[in-house]
Amino acid sequence: MNLASHALVEIEKGLSARLSLKTISFRHNIADWKLRSKVHALILETVRRLNYIDWSINISLKGSSISQLHPYIRSILRLAVYHLKFLYTRSSHLFDVCAGIIAKKFEKKYASFVIALLREVERENLEIHFNRLSELEKTGLQLFHPTWFVRYLFRHLGRFEAIRLMKTNISPPPQYIRVNTLKIDPDTLQRRLSKEKIIAYQDPDLFDVLQVQKAAKPLIHSSYYKKGYFYIQNKASALVTHVLNPQEDDFVLDLCAAPGGKASHMGQFMKNRGSIIALDSSRKRMRELIETSRRQSIKIIQPLLIDSRSVSFVPKKQFDKVLLDAPCSSTGAFQSRPSRKWTVNKRLIKWLSQIQWILLEHAAGQVRPKGILLYVTCSLTVEENEMIIERFLKLNPDFRLARTTPFIGVHGSRGLSQCQRLYPHINDTDGFFIAKLVRRA
Ligand SMILES: C[S@@+](CC[C@H](N)C(=O)[O-])C[C@H]1O[C@@H](n2cnc3c(N)ncnc32)[C@H](O)[C@@H]1O
Repeated sequence: MNLASHALVEIEKGLSARLSLKTISFRHNIADWKLRSKVHALILETVRRLNYIDWSINISLKGSSISQLHPYIRSILRLAVYHLKFLYTRSSHLFDVCAGIIAKKFEKKYASFVIALLREVERENLEIHFNRLSELEKTGLQLFHPTWFVRYLFRHLGRFEAIRLMKTNISPPPQYIRVNTLKIDPDTLQRRLSKEKIIAYQDPDLFDVLQVQKAAKPLIHSSYYKKGYFYIQNKASALVTHVLNPQEDDFVLDLCAAPGGKASHMGQFMKNRGSIIALDSSRKRMRELIETSRRQSIKIIQPLLIDSRSVSFVPKKQFDKVLLDAPCSSTGAFQSRPSRKWTVNKRLIKWLSQIQWILLEHAAGQVRPKGILLYVTCSLTVEENEMIIERFLKLNPDFRLARTTPFIGVHGSRGLSQCQRLYPHINDTDGFFIAKLVRRA
């Protein structure tokens, strides 16, 4: 619980669950992966239900808010309420554990405050408060999504589909790996992994993707991961390279490349021949890209730390293929990254769509005649997807929209049927949007 509360504090600062756990384990010198896996599951499940947990705490705070408390105390409270309300942990033992942890870090009065508050949360009849809420607020609390997003989904998908999607988002996500076919074929890897008690099956749509059914240990501890025989990558993300289909000796530009999932996959498709210019503005993520490429023995990636909005570094329009995997709201990845649910809002979506637009315009300038520009996000919103493409086609008549194949998802909305969307509740993947734009001769 102590480790988990430190991790929750890091998540509040903007780190993902995985990175926050890595940071905390390093800081507290925790190498035991079994303990780390347990803590990871605990923080993910708590963060998944954060709106309900905070709502029930706020009711007992009577007028003040959990946001006014010290981050560490806030985290302890959230974990305790998760145990209380969702794991039905016996309260006396739970309260003692919380008091013990807080007493070590703060004055005794804070431990007493937390215990009193938890008793109040336990006693409170939440049904009375719940019945006073609007239908949208109720759905948001029942399915653990922000109210604005429930309203957005109802409007764009209809009530039935929206509820199916949100139910999927609160279940554990499927796990996929992408086989590095430069080192091993999928059948052989599947057999070898089973000897490490990692059971994975061939995906029916993509020849180099396996779905992991069971794993006796975290995948990154597999010897085959360490040797670069596979990369942990969602099926929807792997689909992107299949659609772009880069060939040997192609000249490829990836404008938002880090941490390198798609860039390394492209290197694999190109059999390490040709060139991939990989741009990204994040130094930390770029380090991951370099490490990822090295592990997978991809040698044709040239990383360049740069803001892709401001630089027109190649004067001629000469790339055969350009990938823009744009920074986005990640509204398609709430299942695997639940903390994003609580940081995204409509203002952020508007701001991101402006960045996406600038990046797309810049990307377009780099495509050679007859070359391909692939625009991708892991967002579900039309503002970041179809609306960007509509505007682009209007202002860039030298580009046309082409069908995205392999086609394993559903058609884009607003009549853009050549674009492809993937949804967690339909395709068992992250939510993705893919548009293929071809420059006319
Ligand atoms: C969706 S992620 C890319 C994932 C990557 N393509 C992969 O498959 O591993 C978006 C990336 O865009 C980068 N980014 C955001 N704004 C940028 C900008 N203005 N210029 C370059 N990169 C940017 C972020 O650092 C982030 O790594």
